Amino acid sequence: MQTTQEPREPDFPEAESIRPDPDPDQAGPDQADPGPVEPQLFDPGTDGQAAADFVVPPEAPPQAEAMSPAKKAEPELGPTGRPWPDLGEPPAVRPGDKALIMAMCNQKGGVGKTTTTINLGAALVELGRKVLLVDFDPQGSLSVGLGVNPHNLELSIYNLLLSRDVTPDEVIAQTSVPGLDILPSNIDLSAAELQLVSEVAREQTLLRVLSKVRDDYDIILIDCAPSLGLLTINALTAADQVIIPLECEFFALRGVALLTDTIEKVQERLNPDLEMLGILGTMYDPRTLHSREVLERVVQAFGDKVFHTVIRRTVKFPETTVAGEPITTYASDSPGAGAYRMLAREVLARCLVG
Ligand SMILES: Nc1ncnc2c1ncn2[C@@H]1O[C@H](COP(=O)(O)OP(=O)(O)OP(=O)(O)O)[C@@H](O)[C@H]1O
Ligand SMILES: [Mg+2]
Repeated sequence: MQTTQEPREPDFPEAESIRPDPDPDQAGPDQADPGPVEPQLFDPGTDGQAAADFVVPPEAPPQAEAMSPAKKAEPELGPTGRPWPDLGEPPAVRPGDKALIMAMCNQKGGVGKTTTTINLGAALVELGRKVLLVDFDPQGSLSVGLGVNPHNLELSIYNLLLSRDVTPDEVIAQTSVPGLDILPSNIDLSAAELQLVSEVAREQTLLRVLSKVRDDYDIILIDCAPSLGLLTINALTAADQVIIPLECEFFALRGVALLTDTIEKVQERLNPDLEMLGILGTMYDPRTLHSREVLERVVQAFGDKVFHTVIRRTVKFPETTVAGEPITTYASDSPGAGAYRMLAREVLARCLVG
């Protein structure tokens, strides 16, 4: 099911590799590519003059242009070409509220659903939320990414879906991050897709399971499999919101119409409260014209639904899977960790507004 992806080199000739856009939240040691060094201009006509000639004396009045309020107020544009929003302080946790359930969904494989579930979850924990991650993919990548070996599970989400005598606390595991718990899965879950077919209200099975733990968490994130089958329909039926990660590459928009169509059908028939919270650009490489163009097209197509935060392509993410922990603890100061922290704030701000 997983789409095997060749490790991708930037497929552009060197000449096209241009300086990255300024990107305030993600500038950092491993991603801030300084780009080609600006040549020092040598002007034979002025080179003989004293260097002081070119230094603005401290007492010199600042240039009118630099002082102009219009110039100063010019908003800084983010990678999506829109001004960065002022998110303010993240809203406080409201005790007594039921957990918000969000599904990470895209039937295209390898677009960053699992990476986003883990790291958004960990970033939300840093903002004081108690978070449950649901591995709803028989591949078990979310479980692996958090250090849980899917082969050693006695009980998994599969048992919760299909046996009434199993309770969530028998299956929920703690992760290395306090406040971040996981409902793990493994290949058993692939059988659930078939077994659920004969159940009454089969699309609401996950909702029934999650209703039992909704009071114990602030946010529940569901990592969907790369398919639009019954498991994903269950996730969309249980969710309040859906987040669509889109890889910033050529075929990103292929299949999105089918996905939005599926979301609309679930809204019409099963879950009228389901909201599309946002589209997240992932694996963005600002040095390539291609990546920037794809992101531009995504913004043209989906406007303000696109998150201002964009996740850049960096080898740090595959490394975190091997380490079995989120980037926020594995490389806390990295631009990737910063990006997911920014996303967490955007997500909370959107939930508050919506
Ligand atoms: N921003 C990124 N930069 C570089 N690599 C990334 C990034 N995000 C994810 N990856 C890597 O890409 C691969 C696919 O990511 P991930 O598993 O999150 O996608 P997915 O949509 O969950 O895939 P699937 O559809 O198979 O479940 C993983 O090896 C992951 O480490
Ligand atoms: Mg996945």
